[in-house]
Amino acid sequence: MTPVSTHSVNDALQWRYATKKFDSSRKIPPVVWAALEQTLVLSPSTMGLQPWVFTVVEDPAVREKLSAAASGQRQPLDCSHFVVLAGRKGLDKKDIERQLARTAEVRGVTQESLKGFAAMLEGGTEKGRSDGTLDAWMARQVYIALGMFIMAASVLGVDTCPMEGFEPPKFDEILGLPARGYGALCAWALARAHARTGDAVAISSYLGGSDKFDRAMARFSAAYAATNAEDFERLHSAIRAGEVEVGRAR
Ligand SMILES: Cc1cc2nc3c(=O)[nH]c(=O)nc-3n(C[C@H](O)[C@H](O)[C@H](O)COP(=O)(O)O)c2cc1C
Repeated sequence: MTPVSTHSVNDALQWRYATKKFDSSRKIPPVVWAALEQTLVLSPSTMGLQPWVFTVVEDPAVREKLSAAASGQRQPLDCSHFVVLAGRKGLDKKDIERQLARTAEVRGVTQESLKGFAAMLEGGTEKGRSDGTLDAWMARQVYIALGMFIMAASVLGVDTCPMEGFEPPKFDEILGLPARGYGALCAWALARAHARTGDAVAISSYLGGSDKFDRAMARFSAAYAATNAEDFERLHSAIRAGEVEVGRAR
């Protein structure tokens, strides 16, 4: 592994911002997406439980529904890749058994030798279950994956927008998550940005309550429209006078 330079990391983080407007015509190259997908697969989680499901939504009709359940935000529609991150709800014995079996398989050891680890898994999750904090604990793991995702995309120069501004029950229903024991927590849209948009909240607070700016914008717009109309009329006159030749594009 070759470490990247400290300024590469800091430059990437300075460059990153939550993108509001994506260029829907620009898709993320498959090789870049493959690297980003790995950040999810390789994300750490408590005791390695990986209590999540990540859904990459491609179907435009499903994206339309998700956008509607996110107050009409356009990112799900315009982005290249839209990922919904869901957390495990009601983690149970089967999850733990699966985790132990997989750990034994990957490490090439017997499950018997993992007794201590098994007790830790069972004790920890049982405590969460009895004090009602288990789902919230698992949800925190999902946000680690979101953080990894955002960081990796920044370094790769991919524009992104993390999203929580949606109705989770609607996302759950659209994606059929409850039947699988999961609930939507956040989402992530990524693509190339159209252009950098200003921070609406900062601009609004800078402008304050007066309507001075609104009036200035209205005056500017009216003047600009008049200039456009004059330009158009001038072009027409020039065509009529034969000063400008007009052809048909082939
Ligand atoms: C978990 C999370 C959820 C967010 N949800 C939304 C969202 O639904 N829509 C949106 O436009 N921005 C969303 N944002 C973006 C934040 O508003 C943005 O990150 C914050 O204002 C800071 O701005 P910056 O990321 O451009 O530096 C979310 C950010 C995070 C981390």
